[in-house]
Amino acid sequence: MHEKIEKNIGVMAVLIVLAISIGGLVEIVPLMFKGAVVEPAPGVEVYSPLRLAGRDVYVKEGCYNCHSQQVRPFRSETERYGHYSVAGEFVYDRPFQWGSKRTGPDLARVGGRYSDDWHYLHLTDPRAVVPDSNMPAYPWLAEKMIDGTQLQKNMRVLQMLGDPYEDDVIDGAPQAVSGKTELDALVAYLQGLGTEWTGQNPGAEMAGGRP
Ligand code: HEC
Repeated sequence: MHEKIEKNIGVMAVLIVLAISIGGLVEIVPLMFKGAVVEPAPGVEVYSPLRLAGRDVYVKEGCYNCHSQQVRPFRSETERYGHYSVAGEFVYDRPFQWGSKRTGPDLARVGGRYSDDWHYLHLTDPRAVVPDSNMPAYPWLAEKMIDGTQLQKNMRVLQMLGDPYEDDVIDGAPQAVSGKTELDALVAYLQGLGTEWTGQNPGAEMAGGRP
C-alpha cells in the first residue's frame, strides 16, 4: 500500500493536500468561533472621542516615524519605560503604532510622566523644554479644530468592526470635542498612553498576552 502511494505522484499529491488541509482547518476553524483572538488586557477600554481624535493626529503627523509604542521585554527597556507591552493593550489600535524607529524615546507608557502644560509647550516648541531636542515643532496643531462629524463617522466604522462603543457615546462625540484643537486631542491621547492596563506587575507571565 505504502509503496503504491510513493510510486504514484498523483495519489501522493492528493493525499498531501488532504493532510495539509486537515491540519490547517484544525488551526483555523476554532478561531472563527471565538469573539476575539486577543482580548483586551484588564482595564483597557476603547478610546474616548477626544483621545481617538488625538490618535488620528498622531498618525496623520507621522509621529511613528520617530517614536515606537512597544516596550520590549528587556531589562534595559523595562527599567527605562516600565512594564513590557502585552498584546491585550493594543486591541483598540487600528492600525497599531508599535513602530520600529526610535529617534525619540518609546511612548507606550508616556502617559502621566509629564504635566499637560509640559506637553503643550513641548509639542509647540520642543527646544523650549529640551534644549538639545531634534524633534520638529508642531505649532499649527493649536490652530486646527477637531472635525466632530468626521470623528463620529470614524467611530461608527470602529463600532461596525467590533469596538464596543455605546451609541450614546458616538452620538455625543461632536459635543465632546467641540471647541477642542488638534493639540488638545493629541495631549489627551499621550496622557492616556500606557495608563489603563491594571495588570502591570513585574512577575507577570507573558503567555497569551494576558499576565
Ligand atoms: C524627527 C523625529 C521626531 C518626530 C517626527 C517626533 N518626535 Fe517626539 N521626540 C523626538 C526626540 C529626539 C525626542 C527626545 C527629545 C525631546 O524630548 O524633545 C522626542 C520626545 C518626545 C516626547 C517626550 C518623551 C519622553 O519620554 O521624554 C513626546 C511625548 C513626543 N516626543 C511626542 C511626539 C509626538 C506626539 C510627535 C508627533 C506629533 C512626535 N513626537 C514627533 C523625535 C521626534
